[in-house]
Amino acid sequence: MPRLASMTDRWGVITGASSGIGAEFARQLAARGMHLVLVARREELMRSLSEELHRLHGTRTEIIAMDLTAENSIQQIASRVEQAGIEIDLLVNSAGFGMVGEILETDSNRIRQMLRLNIEALTALTYHFLPAMIQRNRGGVLNVASLAAFQPVAYMGAYAASKAYVLHFSEALHAELSETGVVVMALCPGVTQTDFFDVAGATGWLQKHSSQTPEEVVRKAIVTMDKGRQYVVPGWRNYLLTCLVRIGTRWRVVNESKRFFRPRRPKKTEK
Ligand SMILES: NC(=O)c1ccc[n+]([C@@H]2O[C@H](COP(=O)([O-])OP(=O)(O)OC[C@H]3O[C@@H](n4cnc5c(N)ncnc54)[C@H](OP(=O)(O)O)[C@@H]3O)[C@@H](O)[C@H]2O)c1
Repeated sequence: MPRLASMTDRWGVITGASSGIGAEFARQLAARGMHLVLVARREELMRSLSEELHRLHGTRTEIIAMDLTAENSIQQIASRVEQAGIEIDLLVNSAGFGMVGEILETDSNRIRQMLRLNIEALTALTYHFLPAMIQRNRGGVLNVASLAAFQPVAYMGAYAASKAYVLHFSEALHAELSETGVVVMALCPGVTQTDFFDVAGATGWLQKHSSQTPEEVVRKAIVTMDKGRQYVVPGWRNYLLTCLVRIGTRWRVVNESKRFFRPRRPKKTEK
């Protein structure tokens, strides 16, 4: 199994770096001396993060404010990195969002945007940065999947399926590259304390369930990637769930998910 090479004075790209898990990756990787290209849409948040990283760790940052679902966004990132003369040793694909809700209330355009981000952009960036890593026999790609990658999830069907793609894609690449110095790993977090559920239209959901901090999730991810593993599920309860879904019948597993994600309707009041 390949181990991730030292990160000091190397460059990484992080998508979804303006908040949540992506921003936490920036903090922990910069603490290990890594210089970073931060990618997301909210430039101001990335600017203040960049100042924080420089002040605390003296590392360098490039900021690319970009909508990853926009036409040519991947080519633009590629040429910005090339112009800067940077060699990328780590790609963290954290940009992503989910959608919770019933089909009749779901905006199909937003579903397409989600698939473009969660699947297409992640795949295109991986295929762009991996070949140079393979040639140097050094580097890593860390794709953020989800606990939802292990099963179909009612009321979140397209999101869970997009994360199943991320997990399978990453595991396949991990196997292909197992005799090289390049590691590809999927991170499969359970409920994590970020803006994710507000963005997904499930405000309040986070507060009702046990969750982990981005700090815990990212620390576990970096340590596990350093061991050369193909995927990681932070938190033993979450890991246990991934084992249980293998034992249960497929009908039982998906039916259970309805209990968690069924949108709450306001109770009818008697007149
Ligand atoms: N939090 C959880 O419970 C949880 C659980 C499992 C998996 N995940 C996964 O973890 C990853 C990170 O999510 P998070 O929890 O950290 O939520 P978050 O705080 O909402 O972060 C999402 C990130 O994605 C970026 N993003 C969204 N749309 C984008 C677009 N069109 N172009 C470029 N960047 C875009 C956002 O930046 P801008 O808005 O600035 O563009 C933000 O930085 C996602 O892939 C998510 O599916 C989260």
